[in-house]
Amino acid sequence: PRPILLTRHGESLYNVRGRIGGDTAISETGELYAKKLANFVEKRLKNEKAASIQMGTDLQHLIEQSLGELGRAGRKIGLKAIIWTSTLQRTILTASPIAGFPKIQWRALDEINAGVCDGMTYEEIKKNMPEEYDSRKKDKLRYRYPRGESYLDVIQRLEPVIIELERQRAPVVVVSHQAVLRALYAYFADRPLSEIPHIEMPLHTIIEIQMGVTGVQEKRYKLM
Ligand code: G3H
Repeated sequence: PRPILLTRHGESLYNVRGRIGGDTAISETGELYAKKLANFVEKRLKNEKAASIQMGTDLQHLIEQSLGELGRAGRKIGLKAIIWTSTLQRTILTASPIAGFPKIQWRALDEINAGVCDGMTYEEIKKNMPEEYDSRKKDKLRYRYPRGESYLDVIQRLEPVIIELERQRAPVVVVSHQAVLRALYAYFADRPLSEIPHIEMPLHTIIEIQMGVTGVQEKRYKLM
């Protein structure tokens, strides 16, 4: 089994001010998390490499005997982890201390688009747009922000990401956002649609998903 690591970005400047959306940098606390995450990923995926090499030794000998250098190169490439981020600053900055792994930005991993409410606090939405606030509270899954997205929209745009995650043979580290990670996590943990908007997805915590023949296993690492 190969691991998929899911994490939110480190605390952003908007998180500090209780504002949703935006494209702010990360706070000092967020930067600290970024460093801890890099440490964790480098150690965790080094172990992964060792374990895989041990398990597949016989097969690898066989491949290396017949393919020589090519076999050895293939083994290295095959185990290399990939870091996926959204296109927003806070995930790119969170991934930036992770060295030695390729990084890819996906627009599909961007946070739910809060449309006209982008940059507001929940208090401000409640005060200035009470009907919007109430509709979302009533049906958070289907509620679509004016000129923005609903959770269902997010789930739909994640389809290509999920297909690629299933297809990948290397470990993948996904650095994304609360709403998006709720949807991704629900897919792997087989949680019902109705629960998605309410799944707990704390900052500064890594959720490791292992997909094996016996099903999906999960571990959580709270780094701060
Ligand atoms: O900025 C958006 C939040 O991360 C999404 O959280 O869907 O619980 O409002 P929410």
